[in-house]
Parts: sequence; C-alpha cells; structure tokens
Amino acid sequence: MNTYRAAIVGLGRMGSTIDEEVVDYPAMALPYSIAGACQASPRIGLVAGADIRPEKRAAFRDRWGVTALYEDYLEMIAQERPDLVAICTRGELHAEMAVKTAEAGVRLIYLEKAIACSMREADAVLDACRKHGVALNTGVLRRFDVRYHTARRLIEAGEIGTPRLVVHYAPSSLLHGHIHSIDTIMYLLGDPAAVSVHGELRPLDLKIEDNRLDQDPHAVYQIEFDGGLAAWTVPAGNWDFEVFGTDGTIRAVDNGITWGLRKATKLAGKYTVYQDVPYPPVERRSATLACLEDLIDAVETGRPPLGNIDVTHRATELCFAVAESHRLGGARVTLPLANRDLYVWHV
Ligand SMILES: NC(=O)c1ccc[n+]([C@@H]2O[C@H](COP(=O)([O-])OP(=O)(O)OC[C@H]3O[C@@H](n4cnc5c(N)ncnc54)[C@H](O)[C@@H]3O)[C@@H](O)[C@H]2O)c1
Repeated sequence: MNTYRAAIVGLGRMGSTIDEEVVDYPAMALPYSIAGACQASPRIGLVAGADIRPEKRAAFRDRWGVTALYEDYLEMIAQERPDLVAICTRGELHAEMAVKTAEAGVRLIYLEKAIACSMREADAVLDACRKHGVALNTGVLRRFDVRYHTARRLIEAGEIGTPRLVVHYAPSSLLHGHIHSIDTIMYLLGDPAAVSVHGELRPLDLKIEDNRLDQDPHAVYQIEFDGGLAAWTVPAGNWDFEVFGTDGTIRAVDNGITWGLRKATKLAGKYTVYQDVPYPPVERRSATLACLEDLIDAVETGRPPLGNIDVTHRATELCFAVAESHRLGGARVTLPLANRDLYVWHV
C-alpha cells in the first residue's frame, strides 16, 4: 500500500486539537482533526506542519511528534515535498493558499471550507486545480460521512419515490455554516445543477456597502435546482435534514444522530399518512479520515474526488447567490452568478 506524505497548514483546532471538543458527542466519529485522521490512516504519513505562531508549532510537535515545523508554508512545501497538503487556516487565506499550494506542485489538497471570500477567489481556485491537475476535497464533512451515504443510497434506490424538496433546519451563518447545509443538500440530491436562489441575510435591514461584508451574517435561502428539485432552510432546529419524495421522506435529526424513513400509505384506502418504517442500522466512521482517503482513492483510480472542485465551486456559488439576492432586495438570482466580486468575510 502506498504511503502518502501529508503536511498541515494552520495548526489550530481543525488542524490539530478539535477532537477534544467533541469526545462524547454522538454526532461525531473521531478522529475529527486532520492530524488525527492522518495518524489513523495506514495510507498517510504526517510529516510536517506550518503555522505563523511558534506556540502552535510547539504544541503540535508535543501532541503529534512531528518535528518538521515551519513558519512559512511555502517553504515547508519546498523542503518536504508533501503529496497531500491540508489547509486549515481561516477563510480569508483559503483561496490564496490553495492556489499557491497547487502552483507549488502539490496534487492532493484538503482545503477548509468555505474555499473563498468571493466568487472571483473561488474561480481562481477552480482554475488552479484544473491547470495543475489537483484533486481537492473540502471540509464539508457530511459528504464523507457513511450515514449520509446510506441516506443517498436509499433515495437513489427509490425508497421515498422521486425526491422533490430538501429542508434543512438550523439557524446558521452563511459561509461558515450554510456552506455545510448547501453541500449536504446537493449531495443528498445527487449534486444537481442549481437554477436560481432567493436569499435573505439577518438582520433583514443589513446593508451590503461597496459589494463587501466584513462579517458572516446569518442567512436563509430557497434554491431551485434542475429537474424541479428544491431546497429550503428553516432558521430553527438542530442541523436536521429532511428529504421529501413523492412517496416518503428521509430525516436526519440532531446533526445525524437519529435517522428515520417514513413512507406514504393510505388510511381507509383514501387518506394519505406517512408511517415510520425500519431504517438500516446507522454506522459511525470518521468523516475526516474518509475525506482524506477519498483523495487518495481518487488519484489512484483516476476518478474525481467526492467533493471535487467543480461541485465545491457550485456550492460556494450558491452561498454567494444568497448574499447577492439580499443585496438586490430579495430578488431571485439566477446562476451562474454575475457578481463575481461580492466579498463576504468568514472564519
Ligand atoms: N470542517 C469542519 O468541520 C471544521 C471545523 C472547525 C473549523 N473549520 C474551519 O477550519 C478553519 C480553521 O478554523 P480553526 O477553528 O481551526 O481556526 P484556528 O484559529 O484554531 O486555527 C487556524 C490556525 O492558522 C494559523 N495561521 C494563520 N495564518 C497562517 C499562515 N499565514 N500560515 C500558517 N498558519 C497560519 C493560526 O495561527 C492558527 O493556529 C476555518 O476555516 C474553519 O471554518 C472546519
């Protein structure tokens, strides 16, 4: 089995320490951090890390026993020649670092979400991945979670009839949070192309001055996809998702802890009711580990990664379309988004 040399940029929570925040949370299967997932994979060797803060480098060395530590991530790439680089810095740096990492010759990139602060930046990531033949996945981890894979398989097998609409339930910020909800909705529906978006930011009187927001506001949206599919988010609930089909629904409750399948049936031969039917046993496996190993499987078999740059770019565009709809006073915005320079800061 090949061993891939991995390096991490940004040795903070997602890069290194986040597991300790969720040790007893049943929604998460550990390892959650990139370093933990690298160490858990027989196919990956964690060889180096970069962080501008010396105390983060020291803590990383103590926690993971990695001694090749750098202040400058490009120097790390030049010296260590990693096969896989995980970029775990905050949002403003994502796009620039991904482009430079691709230009430096790294062919497997894990890039934290959301990948950019504007579609101009997201376009640059897309172009760099295409030009340099990069396999990229991002941190939208439900896409790599076996529980959501089971749900998609059931939907594809026709268990709920023809899917029509997905509802996501949770109050959430636009780029930090809804990049997850939108990506999960796309994944559950088989990644259809989007046609149009209506969005609102919160508070409703929030003004976008000079095509720029220096905060990541809460948001709600309605999305229309190809084939008559639709998605809505409701700003209440606990990261639940429900996929409605012509003959039933699949629901994930409490951030994927509980799953249910309901099927439409007729009471007294005429009144429609939705009745619970048994759901397959729900497994838990580390989605971070699956995400990194998916990159390796992708390059070894020549297929696109599950969260490849094209699908990631489309999910990102939907987030910016939500902000653009708000900027235009609630207008329904069609895709592709004309305003490539709308900037929304996020962590
Ligand atoms: N996918 C997920 O489930 C998940 C979970 C948590 C965080 N995240 C994402 O991960 C990213 C990081 O979040 P976090 O909470 O780990 O942040 P963090 O602040 O804990 O870590 C970021 C690290 O990047 C370092 N850094 C800053 N500039 C740098 C540079 N130029 N070169 C190298 N290192 C640099 C910082 O010193 C810090 O240690 C965010 O985009 C966040 O949205 C994703």
